[in-house]
Amino acid sequence: MTRSVLTVCDLSSSEIGQVLDRAREAKQDRRRRGTELEGLTALLIFQKPSLRTRVSFELAVSNLGGRPLYLSPPEVGLGERETPEDVGGVAGRYCDLIICRTFDQSNLERLAASSGVPVVNALSDWEHPCQALADVLTIREHGGTTGRTLTYVGDGNNVARSLAIAAAGEGMDVRISSPSGYELDSASVTEASNRAAASGGSVSLVSDPDVAVSRADVVYTDTWTSMGQELEAKQRLEDFTGYQVDVDLVGKASPDASVMHCLPAHRGEEISDDVLDGPRSVVLDQAENRLHAQQALLAWLFA
Ligand code: CP
Ligand code: NVA
Repeated sequence: MTRSVLTVCDLSSSEIGQVLDRAREAKQDRRRRGTELEGLTALLIFQKPSLRTRVSFELAVSNLGGRPLYLSPPEVGLGERETPEDVGGVAGRYCDLIICRTFDQSNLERLAASSGVPVVNALSDWEHPCQALADVLTIREHGGTTGRTLTYVGDGNNVARSLAIAAAGEGMDVRISSPSGYELDSASVTEASNRAAASGGSVSLVSDPDVAVSRADVVYTDTWTSMGQELEAKQRLEDFTGYQVDVDLVGKASPDASVMHCLPAHRGEEISDDVLDGPRSVVLDQAENRLHAQQALLAWLFA
């Protein structure tokens, strides 16, 4: 069966658990190589820039015996030079897996429908599921997930959506704090709440960041201006006033709270330098865990 991961909802909470168990094991023996992608080619189609996602996916594919082939933003013209159906149809004849970073979520759906091979979302405007896998793995390593509070402060964006759903499924109490007009959409809140109901967690939207971070175990933020929203940057800077994760705000969380950020950070905007570089920050563990989580996901998909 061809199984794609276009959103975090393509994995049940227990499947996320299985992938992350596998990631933890593989991380303990970093030199171990898998054979799950032996003889297979993965096409990486990226319509936006990337450091972490590209490098970690290329390494993950190679570590499992496969061959990664990267196409940069100007090369593909997904939906411009060619329709996603034509790209998918062709890619499916050459390759065994497509890893795609794009704008519109429908591009991923159209690639999956036309290619006949698994498609993995490497970030879209809607979701960043592989980031969420690495994030939950990181939270597991820094104090655990079940029964602990994760507060996300900032834009109810792709990262917030995937994270809230994945963390709620792990039994976390998820609080999301966004200014008016930037809240996580209600369908995603419902999905996260359903997963929380099954796992013993909870989900709430708390607009006041001081209240939202109170005694939180994890404080997470992401950029206020995602890739593709550059024209809105000035307005967003104004609208997010008061939502910076700074020393004051982190001081209201649990004294041993972890601070997380998917990176790249807009230093001095959503997060201050002293917090990002401070003792509570686990952002480099998060970045490293992209590799372990994605390698485990691909091994699981092709097992
Ligand atoms: N966090 C993340 O996806 O980083 P990149 O944009 O560098 O891939
Ligand atoms: N929300 C950000 C995440 C970058 C990894 C964006 O989409 O640009």
